[in-house]
Amino acid sequence: MCGIIGIVGTAPVQDRLVESLKRLEYRGYDSAGIAGQVDGKLQRRRAPGKLRELEAVLVADPLRATTGIGHTRWATHGAPTERNAHPHIAGNVAVVHNGIIENFAELRAEMQAKGRVFSSDTDSEVVAHLIDQAMTEGLAPLAAFEATIARLRGAYALAVLVGGEREVIMGARNGPPLAVGYGDGEMFIGSDGMALGPFTNRVAYLSDGDYVVIDHNSARIFDEAGLPAIRPIKVLAASSAIMEKGNYRHFMEKEIHDQPEGCQRTIAAYVDTLAERTAVPGDIDFATLQRIQIVACGTAYIAGLIGKYLIEQLADLPVDVEVASEFRYREPALNAGSLAIAISQSGETADTLAALRYCQAKGMKSAAVVNAVDSTIAREVDVVWPIHCGPEIGVASTKAFTSQVSVLTTLAVAIARARGKIDAAEERRLVRVLLEAPRLIAESINLEEAVRGVALEVSKARDVLYLGRGPMYPLALEGALKLKEISYIHAEGYAAGELKHGPIALVDEHTPIVILAPFDSYFEKSASNMSEVMARGGQVVFITDPEGERHAPPGARVVVTAPRCDPLIAPLVMSAPIQLLAYHVAVLKGADVDQPRNLAKSVTVE
Ligand code: F6R
Repeated sequence: MCGIIGIVGTAPVQDRLVESLKRLEYRGYDSAGIAGQVDGKLQRRRAPGKLRELEAVLVADPLRATTGIGHTRWATHGAPTERNAHPHIAGNVAVVHNGIIENFAELRAEMQAKGRVFSSDTDSEVVAHLIDQAMTEGLAPLAAFEATIARLRGAYALAVLVGGEREVIMGARNGPPLAVGYGDGEMFIGSDGMALGPFTNRVAYLSDGDYVVIDHNSARIFDEAGLPAIRPIKVLAASSAIMEKGNYRHFMEKEIHDQPEGCQRTIAAYVDTLAERTAVPGDIDFATLQRIQIVACGTAYIAGLIGKYLIEQLADLPVDVEVASEFRYREPALNAGSLAIAISQSGETADTLAALRYCQAKGMKSAAVVNAVDSTIAREVDVVWPIHCGPEIGVASTKAFTSQVSVLTTLAVAIARARGKIDAAEERRLVRVLLEAPRLIAESINLEEAVRGVALEVSKARDVLYLGRGPMYPLALEGALKLKEISYIHAEGYAAGELKHGPIALVDEHTPIVILAPFDSYFEKSASNMSEVMARGGQVVFITDPEGERHAPPGARVVVTAPRCDPLIAPLVMSAPIQLLAYHVAVLKGADVDQPRNLAKSVTVE
């Protein structure tokens, strides 16, 4: 889940490598480094910590090269120290790597037996040694590279620089993405199109098993059999400007506030506003569908759970949702009449991709709800359902989540209509409800002051419980996930009805219990759970709507009164309060909101 960049340039490359790494920092931010050729010799600069640490190193000791590679790391093997930071150099070879080399231990032992000395604890360094060793034994750089990648097991995107060679960079992809950028007398290689955005908008994506050699003017791409391959060059719409926070302190805060506009764009893409009908792109026959299998990870998985509630309730179509990392290995029983839906903001999550491929191998048609429309997942499915919310930079997903839920909500209505579970009049009504969602999300965001009011209390807690019923149950999971990932407070989400089957033992006066309960068909049951909590001294943080506030059990402290809405869009309208709660708690705790410890935005290793 690291980010890699390589530039065969005509002008100094240091600042451009760093600029690109800034765009890749979402992939990992444990340490960073660059390497280049200076007078035919390899030089590198590295630093543990955020990219600004590397920038400080470069101010003191600039790297004067016109061709170079760079890396921002999310540690898998070896602590995030300078010695483990990439690029790794062995002899005349510098390597940056994203992924995991599974057989590194045996390859390392083999290299050590040949007298090679390793200077890091990583799995990646062995790649540099293998290439350098093969060159020492007489192979040309490309042949040495080919011989090396043939021996690697696991997942990798690589960029390799050979000292003393005319200015070329070699790259390879097996799993994590790698893109080639076509410039004017300069060529680029990088983890994604965004990394190449400041330099070119003409990009080709390598397929799995491909490798490539770039020089100033060309890219020679080979497939896994070693045969020359042509990969289409796409013109990306990406701008060269790095995403800005505007007046917000953090990207996460901005992205929470972006949600009304984001959801509006999403919903507009899936409904015909004039005809007040759903208009879901793609040629999937919802009427004959037997089942839906959703695979996803983290927040995207939680969006899938909300989709399950809505699709099953409205369209009476069975939906299974599973975390991709379990699904891919447990040999689930599937049938070809089901539709596989992968949900992924990045479109690159390794487990989600593998789970999707598993479904495809079983003959299932596939669709993807993605933000990154040029991603691997988007390229591999039959139908792409983009979420249209714009790039999400904060590591904790917010606007991508509500846009994913928007797509799934629209899908639920479209499937219900296709299967004759609702008539045209009801579809029109529900489309009007959907079109109301952006305004109501905005109203919900306006409750920020009320949320801030409770954040101080929550920030002092050691544990927090989130409870909900119906679609509020997955939202309780999401509230807990958001809080723990950015504030480092332990939090759990539960179906409120499960409370007395165990979690109630945790209830005491020190544990805030966030209860999500708009005034819907589940409300009375949730109110009973709330009373049970209060009877045991629990501190309820009650998030509801005006009707729920009126019917709140005696003694309940209503903290947030979200706008009243149709149950169809309640998950969208109730999202902002839990996101804002996590955000303000994290700010109060002084945490790094946009780049929480140990996390990365794109998880391309399993
Ligand atoms: C949590 C979060 C993660 C991602 C998960 C899947 O805030 O962002 O849980 O949702 O890593 O990522 P994508 O959607 O890129 O597949």
